[in-house]
Amino acid sequence: MLYLLDTANLDEIKKAFDLYPMSGVTTNPTIISRENKSFIKILKNIRETIGQDKMLHVQVISTHAQEIVKEAEYLNKTIGGNLYIKIPVIPEGIKAIKILKLKGIKVTATAVFTAQQALIAAVSGAEFVAPYVNRIDSISGNGAGVVSQIVTLFKNYNLNCKVLAASFKNVQQVQDVSLCGAHSVTVNPAIMGDLLSHPLTDKSVTQFISDWESVYGTGKVTYDVK
Ligand code: E4P
Repeated sequence: MLYLLDTANLDEIKKAFDLYPMSGVTTNPTIISRENKSFIKILKNIRETIGQDKMLHVQVISTHAQEIVKEAEYLNKTIGGNLYIKIPVIPEGIKAIKILKLKGIKVTATAVFTAQQALIAAVSGAEFVAPYVNRIDSISGNGAGVVSQIVTLFKNYNLNCKVLAASFKNVQQVQDVSLCGAHSVTVNPAIMGDLLSHPLTDKSVTQFISDWESVYGTGKVTYDVK
């Protein structure tokens, strides 16, 4: 499982990358807009913070293939490192994915709501596809079910494309797609924390410390005592 952070907030990125086994950062135009700062500065700061090797996924705005390709080449040159260009799975987006594949620029197909959209993007050369789990669940669909279908199709056709499940609102949705075999998830900072959080874990740790300190003294750790 690869864990990515779905935010452009530098403080949140620093915190999560310090604590957790993060593989990268994903953004979209909405996430970037929330920061309300210079677009390129935000991305350069993220790249500087996470280093050249971690994945950074950045979305284009254009809806025509040639313009999408132009944006992708610009972003690739300007931001650099292990960059993935996010392209929505509209027909012109698929055309752009085919062109970018030939140019060696890595693509994450995004705004995926069906298994067939994912399959076409993968056949066109996308490295990742991003199904929007919560947005599917929100309209009485089955987000994890769509992820499961995509995983099966990629296996059936021996496609070297990974599922980057996205758009989560709770831990259960992340658990469901993990069981379905999603290769990676992108979650917001709050959900990243929630994945580890359990009141019984906290209670157990408090009890362990209290029992220990009652015998070995307050503030002592293993190397302080005989
Ligand atoms: C990935 O980056 C997606 O754009 C993102 O997870 C969508 O999340 P949302 O449905 O919470 O906006």
